[in-house]
Amino acid sequence: MVQLTINGKTHEVDADPDTPLLWVIREQVGLTGTKFGCGIAQCGACTVHLDGVATRSCVMPLSAVTADQKIVTIEGLSPDSSHPVQKAWAALDVPQCGYCQSGQIMAAVALLQSNPNPTDDDINTEMSNICRCGTYNRIRAAIKMAAGDTGEATRG
Ligand code: FES
Ligand code: FES
Repeated sequence: MVQLTINGKTHEVDADPDTPLLWVIREQVGLTGTKFGCGIAQCGACTVHLDGVATRSCVMPLSAVTADQKIVTIEGLSPDSSHPVQKAWAALDVPQCGYCQSGQIMAAVALLQSNPNPTDDDINTEMSNICRCGTYNRIRAAIKMAAGDTGEATRG
């Protein structure tokens, strides 16, 4: 058994040490907001925070995570979708199919924690998550809205 701290709660999980954290989160802990896209650290659908750092959980083996590290998933951002990034996402109707969006939001929250007022270039550089629906303009606008830069936050 391995202990993990996810969204402020301790979970005991029983999985092979090589199991990607993504599958432990989804199948053992039952938090299915974190998605599987590529499995090779390319798309970002599986992004969670590990001690505040945006991390692609599809390539993070369970053995690399310790109980004292804080894992936050999309479900742990807020109890009622009231995190400023979630509110901006809803206000600008960012998602299309939605599949990539929890990873996008987790990446955006981490970006704003390290850079509270990012430019378009900052966002383009830092947000490497892929959206097959092409919602990138609305993602940029929502990040700026969440940053309080509503002047430039137009619907794309
Ligand atoms: S599923 Fe992890 S980066 Fe694509
Ligand atoms: S909203 Fe469909 S993949 Fe991003």
